[in-house]
Amino acid sequence: MKPLLEARALTKHYQQGSVTVAAVENVSLAAPGGEVTLLIGPSGSGKSTLLSMLGGILRPTSGAILLGGHEVGNLSDRELPPIRRRCFGFVFQSFNLFPFLTARENVETALRLRKVPAPLRERRSAELLEYCNLAERMDFYPASLSDGEKQRVAIARALAGDPFILLADEPTARLDSASGEAILEMLRGFARRRGKAVIMASHDPKARSFADQVYSLADGRIEALERIPQK
Ligand SMILES: Nc1ncnc2c1ncn2[C@@H]1O[C@H](COP(=O)(O)OP(=O)(O)O)[C@@H](O)[C@H]1O
Ligand SMILES: [Mg+2]
Repeated sequence: MKPLLEARALTKHYQQGSVTVAAVENVSLAAPGGEVTLLIGPSGSGKSTLLSMLGGILRPTSGAILLGGHEVGNLSDRELPPIRRRCFGFVFQSFNLFPFLTARENVETALRLRKVPAPLRERRSAELLEYCNLAERMDFYPASLSDGEKQRVAIARALAGDPFILLADEPTARLDSASGEAILEMLRGFARRRGKAVIMASHDPKARSFADQVYSLADGRIEALERIPQK
């Protein structure tokens, strides 16, 4: 399948005073629709930096990012955010929910940001939460949700813009094993059933069995690419 997202020779150097940290060095990858692309590697190997560049949150030092075959790395600071909102969903290990908003309101915030008209927002947020198995939890505040449920709210919110690429940074790191598996299952379902690209960084040994391809990073470089046979 043609990749939805491609990185070519992506490099990020952070300047720390007089020291240059080569966080990502000459990384090329391709994430096809319908597949889960997994990034693994020890802490500090550049996974988060790479995801941030792929999603247009962080500017690369050099290299190219292609979205549906079109170069987006050269877009201006004004052009990039609308493309990011339209094309990407983000999920983080720490959920990043608004504590003073209910599950439904957390999702509605993302719909409002995407200019979905008010009468549609309520229905759409309910659908997204149902898709994430949270029909019974819509009016709960994050504090009264389990961590697994919080992460599912975060996924519902990430899907609000109907992104074609979902970027997840250690989405199961804070979860017990059963909740983590439910999240991995959901991410794989989103890729497989809807033809989207999921790119996930994870330490979770279980993540591998939910992936179609695995890039191993070490010191900012790709050491190996492995295809996982379909079951
Ligand atoms: N904002 C930053 N400024 C300077 N160095 C950073 C910054 N963010 C990450 N780094 C460094 O870049 C390298 C890669 O970090 P990171 O992308 O967070 O790796 P990982 O997600 O695999 O743990 C590390 O050496 C880290 O210390
Ligand atoms: Mg990280």
